[in-house]
Amino acid sequence: MTDLWWKSAVVYQIYPRSFADADGDGMGDLRGVIDHLDHLAGLGVDVIWLSPVYPSPQDDNGYDISDYQNIDPLFGDLAVFDDLLKGAHARGLKVVMDLVVNHSSDEHPWFIESRSSATSAKRDWYWWRPARTGMAPGTPGAEPTNWGSAFGGSAWEFDEATGEYYLHLFSRKQPDLNWENPAVREAVYSMMRWWLDRGVDGFRMDVINMISKAVRPDGSLPDGRMPTGAAFADGSASYINGPRIHEFLHEMYDRVFAGREALLTVGEMPGVTVDEAKLFTDPARHEVDMVFQFDHVWADRGSDPWRLIPLRLSNLKAILGRWQAGLADVGWNSLYWNNHDQPRAVSRYGDDSPAHRVASAKMLGTVLHLHRGTPYVYQGEELGMTNFPFRSIADFRDIEALGQYRQAIEHEGRSPEEVLTVLRARGRDNARTPMQWDASPQAGFTTGTPWLAVNPNYTEINAAAQYDDPDSVYHYYRQLIALRHAEPAVVDGDFTMLLPDDDRLYAFTRRLGPTELLVIGNFTGSTVQAPIPDAVSWTGAELVLSNLPAPATELSLAPWQAVIYRRVIE
Ligand code: GLC
Repeated sequence: MTDLWWKSAVVYQIYPRSFADADGDGMGDLRGVIDHLDHLAGLGVDVIWLSPVYPSPQDDNGYDISDYQNIDPLFGDLAVFDDLLKGAHARGLKVVMDLVVNHSSDEHPWFIESRSSATSAKRDWYWWRPARTGMAPGTPGAEPTNWGSAFGGSAWEFDEATGEYYLHLFSRKQPDLNWENPAVREAVYSMMRWWLDRGVDGFRMDVINMISKAVRPDGSLPDGRMPTGAAFADGSASYINGPRIHEFLHEMYDRVFAGREALLTVGEMPGVTVDEAKLFTDPARHEVDMVFQFDHVWADRGSDPWRLIPLRLSNLKAILGRWQAGLADVGWNSLYWNNHDQPRAVSRYGDDSPAHRVASAKMLGTVLHLHRGTPYVYQGEELGMTNFPFRSIADFRDIEALGQYRQAIEHEGRSPEEVLTVLRARGRDNARTPMQWDASPQAGFTTGTPWLAVNPNYTEINAAAQYDDPDSVYHYYRQLIALRHAEPAVVDGDFTMLLPDDDRLYAFTRRLGPTELLVIGNFTGSTVQAPIPDAVSWTGAELVLSNLPAPATELSLAPWQAVIYRRVIE
């Protein structure tokens, strides 16, 4: 049996360019991370996940890698990286790297060689395809398939020199690697072993369920479904959980992870189903420890990407409840509200107004951390950092926001205001504004000009102000993390959803042996009496943690209140 240490662990995600800038160039760096390791040790997390720090043209902020075995000079070098590993390990923190191998940068030597000629030895390391039959290469509509890329435009880029197209599911500077080719897989595995030998403790695998494409025997790829009003088709049926995905991940396990101890592997998997996730995370199958699913962060989306749908709490509960039930016996959940691709949860599912920001940030943390699975905290979440007040498209830097904005306005007939409304609420730059360390200029993030503007609320919301305040979000997260470490029912207890149809309260129990926990979060700005079945049986139970003073009458929750009760059943 594999070592399942990560069941009781909490992971903290660092987005290095926005975490802390030690050299004053306006961009976060590894020395900045080293300088703030005590912030993480103080919080009590077990693992750091570093978003990419490899050499990169930074077209997608480092998710476009031009050298897998080095550090971008923006962030430092391998010696500083080793210092970071040492500093983290000395504090009992593990370090997990981002692994971006669905695609490389177009400036990676592999791709440069691949594109150099149609007969290059590395031609087949990427997805090169001729124009659609009967069409002149390079003309509109001649792309090999009708797929759109995630960042706007076609998923195919025409290459004049060789008259063929290459596939890029993301930007044109992120060509997809061809995992059908065993030499590609071997190169990736050997790179991964090199990092593990250096001392890293695992990988967060970027869009890893896209590496297997449903290629036809003649080498062609099928067209996708064209949504009404869209400029390009959705090709995901041909690359999400493709035919060889389990084979590839199992092979990766065998070639990279087998025989190594105490690692953590988490696969980012947009569109993954519960049934698939059960297979991916069944320890006996040796694929990955856990996956990131997206259903719960897409709970406020409808079929029209440019309309905001208010969250229905019963829908969110149905989604997370389905994942809890689906992976109850086999497999394991990862738990998150935030990451570098999501808006700030307190602004999205909580209430970031001055009256309720702190309470709702803590309430969201409580509900998430008390689920069964491994929680992930994204930098600034532990401070209750909020979305940014974007004025116009000029305030955005994210390639996704800019690319989708252009496509929606130029090709899909949307108005700038309707697109901006959604980008303000959901754009990825909300998560990427600099970490707010203190109330000094630029929030103590940099002495220079930050690459992305600091949220103006930093004078009020910052780490320094929270260290000394026992009622801060930071100290509350510290307590949540400590509770997971101390209470086995948080780690292993059975999960039972209560009040599934209630749109105001998120309530559930966790039960392990004689210990039972009752968790309730109020997702409204009103006081709500919780209609828990058998509420009277909880009379006298111990209040383990609450973000607000204990309810005066039993189970009457103040606006955005969260409570955790514990009882021991004789
Ligand atoms: C993942 C990353 C995202 C990136 C994309 C392409 O979804 O989280 O930031 O843009 O993959 O690498």
